[in-house]
Amino acid sequence: MGMSKPDTVHVTVRVPGKVNLYLGVGPREFSGYHELATVFQAVNIYDEITVKPADTLRITGSGKYGHLVPTDETNLAWQAAQLVAKACGEDPNLEINIDKSIPVAAGMAGGSADAAGTLLACDIYFQAGIPRDELDAMAALLGSDVPFILHGGCALGSGRGDILSPVMTRGSFHWVFATFNEGLSTAQIYERTDELRGLDFETIPDVPNELLAALAQGNAQELGKFLHNDLQAAAIANRSGLKDVLEYGRDLGSLGELVSGSGPTCAFLARDEVSAIDLLVGLKSSGLVDDAVHAHGPVHGARQIR
Ligand code: C5P
Repeated sequence: MGMSKPDTVHVTVRVPGKVNLYLGVGPREFSGYHELATVFQAVNIYDEITVKPADTLRITGSGKYGHLVPTDETNLAWQAAQLVAKACGEDPNLEINIDKSIPVAAGMAGGSADAAGTLLACDIYFQAGIPRDELDAMAALLGSDVPFILHGGCALGSGRGDILSPVMTRGSFHWVFATFNEGLSTAQIYERTDELRGLDFETIPDVPNELLAALAQGNAQELGKFLHNDLQAAAIANRSGLKDVLEYGRDLGSLGELVSGSGPTCAFLARDEVSAIDLLVGLKSSGLVDDAVHAHGPVHGARQIR
């Protein structure tokens, strides 16, 4: 407590993006949130969060998407730093650099990843030793996907997506993510979903056992059949081109395809590495997407690397 940090203290934490293999969305609740039944998988597209001493709280961006990083208090990373500093009675006089490879407003939890990474980096930086359950509670305060990114791997999410339980999974799954320069607003996609369903919608979401069995077996072909996203119809309603992108990837041999989270990123499950490269090259040259990247999952959650 109250300990001043030498200028040389830098802490770097690496955080993954995610894809929802299944995203079941219940009716809108009084809180405005929706009860989810989801399966998250962390994938090896990473942001790196570095915190170091500064005269005041400041955010900088670098890397592929660094120019798109908000540098003010609207960034969840800013709020994360304030939460941890407050919890240990310190002033958040830090520079937070976000080296950004996870696409922004893309449905891959990029903003949540930066919040999760900042929580962990600040906990280490301030030598706060915040217990894991308290860090999880702070994560849930910041956003529905933040606890999963701290956790990583593969997990079942309920509640708002913040209540996690582990999922048995075997081996590694290959993905291609088709990305777009213009993002979608998560809140708007949930709203559009409510509109499309109407006021009498009351189905409680549930993850199919077949999907969990496919994960436990490491069976990509089987997993491909059960990928599903209740937000997909709304994402397509707001961005009609996504339908063609999904069909294009299917024709290129993907085992299953869906919009990632609230979109617009489209995720394609590949049979193996070779067929992932075919998908990658095909999608990149399709003229339908701005970029495409090959990734695999599951991978670890937020972790200190320096
Ligand atoms: O929790 P987070 O801030 O990431 O959520 C962003 C927006 O997504 C919320 O404001 C809400 O509109 C919507 N949301 C929802 N139900 C969830 C998660 C998010 O309606 N379970």
